[in-house]
Amino acid sequence: MPFLNATRLQSCSRLGQPAQLRSRCFSSSVKRLSTESRSLIGRQPSYGPVGVEAARIWSPNDPAPKPTLFSHEFSLADRVALVSGANRGIGLDMALGLIEAGARAVYCIDVHKTPGDDWQKTRLYAEKMQCKAGEGRLEYLQGDVTDQARMWEIGETIGSREGRLDIGVAAAGILRDQFECLSFPAEKFQEVMSVNTNGVLYTAQAAGQQMEKFGNGGSLIFIASIGGHRADKGFNYVDYYASKSAVLQMGRSMACELGPKRIRVNTISPGYVYTTLAVNATSDRPEVLEEHVKSTPLNRVATPDELRGVVTWLASDASSFCTGSE
Ligand SMILES: NC(=O)c1ccc[n+]([C@@H]2O[C@H](COP(=O)([O-])OP(=O)(O)OC[C@H]3O[C@@H](n4cnc5c(N)ncnc54)[C@H](O)[C@@H]3O)[C@@H](O)[C@H]2O)c1
Repeated sequence: MPFLNATRLQSCSRLGQPAQLRSRCFSSSVKRLSTESRSLIGRQPSYGPVGVEAARIWSPNDPAPKPTLFSHEFSLADRVALVSGANRGIGLDMALGLIEAGARAVYCIDVHKTPGDDWQKTRLYAEKMQCKAGEGRLEYLQGDVTDQARMWEIGETIGSREGRLDIGVAAAGILRDQFECLSFPAEKFQEVMSVNTNGVLYTAQAAGQQMEKFGNGGSLIFIASIGGHRADKGFNYVDYYASKSAVLQMGRSMACELGPKRIRVNTISPGYVYTTLAVNATSDRPEVLEEHVKSTPLNRVATPDELRGVVTWLASDASSFCTGSE
């Protein structure tokens, strides 16, 4: 292919070229680095160089360059996701966000046998959405995150249906009654730990096993909480605080183990988000909600859609060097 050889540097700046050519192009453009430094970079996006690296190899004789940030780095084109606790609330909003960013299918896992009204409406909304970046199927599978065998089975079902699983979001969580810590009932403590901590591990295993099997790497995202970082005077939630703190450390530990498999693991700790979980916790104590608002720099609480951006960023190549972070 003499033409390609002669114009290799110009041609490969057009994203859309065969992967082999793009990767040769990327290597040649980093020649200015020492051999040792180059081996430390160790990353070549499948769509070729972007950013300043793309600018370096572009020539004014080439077609005008196109932005790649949203079409490539942030794009979830053809990716497949599993999101636990996605019948409603934060999990459901995140699932729709992943669809809008181009995911082929997002599997919503929740304890209820059949999905609720919010989920049904969101599925139809996603199906009818025009100009969305990808196929965008919202699927529902019943699963209790405390049931390890069922969660693994769900991972296998998704893997065999879709031939890949790239994103795992552990959003299922509960906040139950308050008890004084010195007499906190064991079974109540265990219930919250089972869902909020064990459930995150089993969700991560379900998705991570498939990521390992297909060898494409992946991104695991755990929804922890501000309550994993601090405890508030007047709130007797030793179970919830402990369960969320454990999730933060689980994320760091799994990030260290899974890095060599190109599986990234990050946690998100929202403050007060206006969902059923939060509203139930404050419905008989409006002053608590007021306190939350007062202690927030923006002087308001969040809505679940405000977490769509961060989950999309963490799920995508735009955060390709981010792991073990909170
Ligand atoms: N809302 C907030 O203010 C807030 C703040 C910080 C962190 N969080 C965390 O965000 C996550 C989502 O919370 P939300 O506010 O959307 O709550 P939510 O109650 O609206 O949604 C939680 C979902 O998890 C599901 N779920 C519960 N137990 C389950 C189980 N055993 N197996 C499978 N699914 C189960 C529920 O059915 C529900 O659909 C939770 O982990 C929560 O701790 C919420």
